[in-house]
Amino acid sequence: MYAIRIPEPGGPDVLSWTEVPDPVPAEGEVLVDIAASAANRADVAQRQGNYPPPAGASEYPGLECSGTVAALGPGTEESGWSVGDPVCALLTGGGYAERVAVPVGQLLPVPKGVGLVEAAALPEVACTVWSNLVMVGGLKEGETFLVHGGGSGIGTFAIQFARALGARVAVTAGSDAKLERCRELGADITINYRTEDFTERMRAEGGADLILDIMGGSYLDANLRSLSTNGRLVIIGLMGGRRAEADLGRMLAKRLSVHATTLRSRPAAEKAAITAGVLEQVWPLVEKGTIRPVVDREVPLRDAAEAHRVMESSAHTGKILLTR
Ligand SMILES: NC(=O)c1ccc[n+]([C@@H]2O[C@H](COP(=O)([O-])OP(=O)(O)OC[C@H]3O[C@@H](n4cnc5c(N)ncnc54)[C@H](OP(=O)(O)O)[C@@H]3O)[C@@H](O)[C@H]2O)c1
Repeated sequence: MYAIRIPEPGGPDVLSWTEVPDPVPAEGEVLVDIAASAANRADVAQRQGNYPPPAGASEYPGLECSGTVAALGPGTEESGWSVGDPVCALLTGGGYAERVAVPVGQLLPVPKGVGLVEAAALPEVACTVWSNLVMVGGLKEGETFLVHGGGSGIGTFAIQFARALGARVAVTAGSDAKLERCRELGADITINYRTEDFTERMRAEGGADLILDIMGGSYLDANLRSLSTNGRLVIIGLMGGRRAEADLGRMLAKRLSVHATTLRSRPAAEKAAITAGVLEQVWPLVEKGTIRPVVDREVPLRDAAEAHRVMESSAHTGKILLTR
């Protein structure tokens, strides 16, 4: 098969479409013939040499895919999946390829009403958003939820899911065009972080009960000031650095909590539990049309460098798909 390799860390042009051996499914894995994958910021960090794949993961980038089951590996014969089934999957790596071996617990059916290629836009954002809003953040109906980077892959999904839970949704983004798209997706409060102080605005709006943050260090203090009493901050990205000072006095007084998580490094059993939660609680919303995949553009997988250039320019809103 062919896959995108990263022979050395560097800019987008190091990504090379290379002939490599086919993956062989291990115990508990299923082989998937990939129709599409999608770009994630983590892939950019991996290409730059800043986010090595966890031990045992494929060396090729790619954290999600859609396609058809090509073969059942040992121990998956009774899993209920059959050769030829259309699927999408959460991956620990290996999505930038023609085939990938996937732990069976990370497979999801393609939701009714979603195309096979389009389905590649869903697994990573659905699992990240569901696990952090429901399992970690405990978002409830009537609460105010703030997501930074509302136009991102994560943000466009989080807006729709939080609205479906009955939350009031606030977003930050760097352009009015992205904020307009966020509003169409259901955001109630839109903040252009280049022209407005999000902390002042959130305080004027009564504060946030939950913040999903992708910036990390540069936003820690402002996030803590934006939370209301009993507020929760969940950090999932470090685009603004990994170090910061926090005012613990503010945290005590407002009884705040700070969580930080990554999906990729969770053990397979936790990923399977998250995938099962998504199937039960998110897929019905997708099948009803309450949540739709937000696809900015499709780029041929062999031109993954172009997808990375777009992602690094932040010109996109939603997901960039990589197609066969
Ligand atoms: N921990 C996990 O398990 C996990 C899983 C998935 C993703 N993530 C993280 O989530 C983040 C988003 O990932 P993605 O794949 O959805 O990336 P993406 O689509 O490329 O989105 C990144 C977004 O950040 C926005 N942004 C940049 N500076 C900002 C600022 N100062 N304030 C607010 N927004 C800003 C960019 O657009 P504008 O500046 O134009 O608004 C862009 O929309 C990344 O940090 C990624 O690593 C973490």
